Amino acid sequence: MIIKTVNDFTDVTVETLVVSLFEGERSHIDFINKFVVDAKEFEGKYNTTYVLPTLEQFPVGKILVLGCGKRNEFDENKARILVAKAIKTLAGMKVKKVAFDLDFGFDYGKIGAIGAAIGNYHFDKYKTQKKDRVEEIYFAKVAQENIDCGQTIAQAMEFARNLANEPAMFATPQKLAEYALSFEGIETKVYEENEIREMKMGAYLAVGQGSVNPPKFIHMKYTVENPKKRIAIIGKGICFDSGGLDIKPAASMLNMKDDMAGAACVLGIMSVISKLCPQVEVHGIIAACENMPSGNSYKPGDIVTAKNGKTIEVDNTDAEGRLTLADALCYASELGVDEIVDIATLTGACSVAFGAVCAGILGNNDEFVDAIKSSAFEMGEKYWVLPTYEEYKNGLKSEFADMKNTGGRSGGASSAGLFLKEFVSVDRWAHIDIAGVAYLDSPLNEFGKGSTGAGVRALINYIQK
Ligand code: BES
Ligand code: MN
Ligand code: ZN
Repeated sequence: MIIKTVNDFTDVTVETLVVSLFEGERSHIDFINKFVVDAKEFEGKYNTTYVLPTLEQFPVGKILVLGCGKRNEFDENKARILVAKAIKTLAGMKVKKVAFDLDFGFDYGKIGAIGAAIGNYHFDKYKTQKKDRVEEIYFAKVAQENIDCGQTIAQAMEFARNLANEPAMFATPQKLAEYALSFEGIETKVYEENEIREMKMGAYLAVGQGSVNPPKFIHMKYTVENPKKRIAIIGKGICFDSGGLDIKPAASMLNMKDDMAGAACVLGIMSVISKLCPQVEVHGIIAACENMPSGNSYKPGDIVTAKNGKTIEVDNTDAEGRLTLADALCYASELGVDEIVDIATLTGACSVAFGAVCAGILGNNDEFVDAIKSSAFEMGEKYWVLPTYEEYKNGLKSEFADMKNTGGRSGGASSAGLFLKEFVSVDRWAHIDIAGVAYLDSPLNEFGKGSTGAGVRALINYIQK
């Protein structure tokens, strides 16, 4: 998909023109005033559209009018959703080439490019009949550098969405490692099973030991001279979560190829980071493995030792993500970074609480958590802060080890977060639980069924700021 800026839509030959219309306002295009506004054909309510055939009385064959609602209620998030909707509508009309002339009152290059990419996205790699897509897009009166920035972010999202949508038979720990090694401008080290053992990552190793696909510990690094700060982003990389010996029921296992959505997010970001060239050192870390039942699996009651020496009694083999993240957090803490963010499809409890609408976030520094939260919100991702009261740790007490890996069903998103905290030794750490938002069972806003690339926009925005 090509997106370019033009001065005026009449500078290009396209099949369709997309324009905006706010409630109670007139358009800057007379033709639209005459046939739409004055003719009272369309009110411009938010998220409604109107198609106007121009019957050769206008330079473009068809006009798609986007209802924007009231101007004082309009924002960048609505703008992005509308552009995505327009692209979906146009693709359905088999339009290939389109110009946008939107009177949003701000430069829509960046969010427009992201919205267009989301609207055009389909995971149809395995379909013999591919979906229709818009191929050429022109945005009137926006800065090309904003379009380019949006397209880079969109590229990262697309990478993450594709990888998380891939079946687990494709997206193995090995495959994740191969991608990590392929990124330009990134130094990557992949640790094999014996090296993971040498690093004493006993919690992570236990989770992966039941699978025929060996674990891969992936460390990607983007460096600049005199970085303003150093940050590590850790993605949960369970390439398939069967639950292990505490096996999941069929319905709960259905989407568990997506249990590496956090890892996909980190890989997506690292795939474009050298193009964005932030003045920040960024470490991307993934403890990739599969959680499978077998004769070699770790068992309920096992006691494992994490990299920092803390011992954990395995209460439930399905609480595997926090075990892998525990060792990854220890590793990241030893890098001497200023900040650590982990992003994980961690708990069904978070999904139950917030649904697919909103991710959970917590950490050990309110200001840092708020900064990530607002970076997310600016880009259209919703995060809600989870409580971290000490009492949530009560359930994690173990008779035989330093802690258990589960703290009961209630308050599960918070207790999982507090478990992770035991392995963090930096002052600025945040944990994002994307269990509910990473993968949609049914369309929501600008997204269709499947992976959403959760965290990519949010964290790129945070790093860039
Ligand atoms: N990967 C799951 C969490 C999950 C659930 C992600 C639904 C996406 C959608 C995680 O590993 C898990 O199984 N968590 C358990 C923890 C429990 C055993 C304490 C859960 O949430 O049920
Ligand atoms: Mn699990
Ligand atoms: Zn899991």
